Amino acid sequence: RADLLRRIDELVRLVPDYPQPGILFRDIMPLLADADAFADVIAEIAGRVDGPVDLVAGMEARGFLLAAPVAVTLGAGVLPVRKAGKLPGPTAAQSYELEYGTATIEIHPATVPAGARVLVIDDVLATGGTAAATVALLERCGAEVVGLSFLVELEALRGRDLLSGHAIDVLLAVS
Ligand code: PRP
Ligand code: MG
Repeated sequence: RADLLRRIDELVRLVPDYPQPGILFRDIMPLLADADAFADVIAEIAGRVDGPVDLVAGMEARGFLLAAPVAVTLGAGVLPVRKAGKLPGPTAAQSYELEYGTATIEIHPATVPAGARVLVIDDVLATGGTAAATVALLERCGAEVVGLSFLVELEALRGRDLLSGHAIDVLLAVS
């Protein structure tokens, strides 16, 4: 596990001032491209999940890349949480503030059975806006959010303050 954390740290590239000045971007593409590290990360995320999960929700776009393999590992379905305008209706939508700019996410509520146990996965927890909007949207659609998992938490942005009351699992926390 210490070895996995070290590899994540090495394989998540830091890009200063992207996509805007002052933002330190965390690029997970080198990690995804490393077959062993990627497989180990998926196994680790899935292995730390407590209890049954019906659906794994991943936020477009980078969350998709983690949610799908975790869902297969857990024997759960995948719930893509899309950016606005990508899904044919009927959709349910939620707007939120991003670390840079604003955004709207959408899902198909028809794919969320009442009381579905949903695990939410994304690559980075920054301000928490994306994750909090996802939780709000899922709960409005009748789901039970059983936990949230992130590869990296940017602790200084205090994103978890928007997620109080929810179980949060983070592989690598950085200040
Ligand atoms: C990034 C990242 C998270 C989100 C975290 O996604 O992948 O989804 O921001 O920020 P927050 O906690 O402040 O909401 P981004 O919207 O840049 O798009 P992408 O996943 O499509 O690259
Ligand atoms: Mg994202």
